[in-house]
Amino acid sequence: MFVVKTFRFVQVPLNLQLRTMHLLKNKAYINGEWVSARSDKVFEVTNPATGEVIGTAPDMDVVDAQHAIDSASRAFATWQDTTAKERSRYLRNWFDLMVKNLESLAKIVTLESGKPLVEARGEVFYGNSFVEFFSEETRRIQGEIIPSPVANRKILVEKQPIGVAGLITPWNFPHAMITRKAGAALAAGCTCVIKPAEDTPFTALALMELAHEAGFPKGVVNVVTSSRGNAPGIGNLLCQSPLVAGISFTGSTQVGKLLYKQCSSGIKRLGLELGGNAPFIVYKSADVDSAVKGAMGSKFRNCGQTCVAANRFFVQSDIYDSFVEKLTNEIKALKIGNGEEPDVQVGPLINQAQFEKVTTLVQDAVSKGAKVLVGGKGAPQHGRLFYEPTVLTDIKDDMRVYSEEVFGPVVNIFRFNTEEESVAMANNTERGLAGYFYSRDVSQIFRVARKLEVGMCGVNEGMISTAEAPFGGVKESGLGREGSHHGIEEFTYVKYVALGNL
Ligand code: SIN
Repeated sequence: MFVVKTFRFVQVPLNLQLRTMHLLKNKAYINGEWVSARSDKVFEVTNPATGEVIGTAPDMDVVDAQHAIDSASRAFATWQDTTAKERSRYLRNWFDLMVKNLESLAKIVTLESGKPLVEARGEVFYGNSFVEFFSEETRRIQGEIIPSPVANRKILVEKQPIGVAGLITPWNFPHAMITRKAGAALAAGCTCVIKPAEDTPFTALALMELAHEAGFPKGVVNVVTSSRGNAPGIGNLLCQSPLVAGISFTGSTQVGKLLYKQCSSGIKRLGLELGGNAPFIVYKSADVDSAVKGAMGSKFRNCGQTCVAANRFFVQSDIYDSFVEKLTNEIKALKIGNGEEPDVQVGPLINQAQFEKVTTLVQDAVSKGAKVLVGGKGAPQHGRLFYEPTVLTDIKDDMRVYSEEVFGPVVNIFRFNTEEESVAMANNTERGLAGYFYSRDVSQIFRVARKLEVGMCGVNEGMISTAEAPFGGVKESGLGREGSHHGIEEFTYVKYVALGNL
């Protein structure tokens, strides 16, 4: 008789796995050293899925931030003179180490941001691709020689690094938003002081361990961690310090406006990647199945907590019922839970403030007549910060979900009849980051792509982010572009040199 031995796979929780991981750091990284806050204060970082404390990070203040700025400023004196080929090599080393440590990085991302492990791997893959791209692009930062109107004179144009870059990054992509900024800044020849979000400092510190191993000289990259309480002071210092040449920020429009003001005193170079309110339009000629697939990707990536997430769905009457039914069925099938568990597709919201915001916005819509087709409430059986994937219909423009970025797993659906109506509704917002539409009518594709007031437009695509393309918005969604060769421009000055009397 056969005896079949079965082995039960015992899953080791991520927090236990991480204890032995060399990438999990509890010190900040300044001038090539792992350091505590001068005050010795620390703050706790919790796993949003379980509420458990993952560990502590230094609660730094302006004194520590000044130390980081001074280090970056000293390092700039020599880093700016490295050749493009040398910078390319450092970035490539960093990228190779990130690839080698993809799984560990993904685990840290899941633990502190709550996103499912499969998505965290996707983020690390995406984040790494910026470092790879900029390691190549650094060798293509070209100057020009322009024909001069004056005899015996030459007009030379050279791109120079701006100096120390202050990079303030968000919690929703704790890896990719650092590499998208730092990759470009380092490639241009700038040095960096990075201030990661309070909810997710460990990914930033893990990236610093790999930068250290990659051999970046002291002070070229620095990370200053802090609690929410100290963050405004550090942000203000970065914006006002004469040693910092430029700021690149990803986060809310409200904070972006504040940083804009603070940077004005020194006329600082500023890149702002702010909130969106993306329309997702489905026209009657669309392939409805493909539109549903795009909608799921655009809306439910990171539990709806992305700036480019579809925030308002506009569906043409002719296909409204079919789209809503198919989308609702997909949403009902989503698996919610702790991102460490296999097959989980929707994790928790990042923190209590975010949970309350989503709850309040849905309540506001319902109180003004919105219909809940699925969800509409928290999912406490999974944990305090989980919210059920939700579909709301009968949305009106006086509901807050129309004008505000939900940043949660909530789909708001409007019905429309004409193309003009859909474009007018889509553009009826102060934001203009991403926009999406599905259509198989070629003329309509060109018309609508041109008319949508957004910086990025997905046509028959729900997920459009990539290192090769310029990422950024119009209107109150921000200034400048990240990724692509345009991303490097943000960190360079154009210098004109007139060579006379030749
Ligand atoms: C963001 O939500 O800020 C970034 C999303 C992306 O890069 O796709």
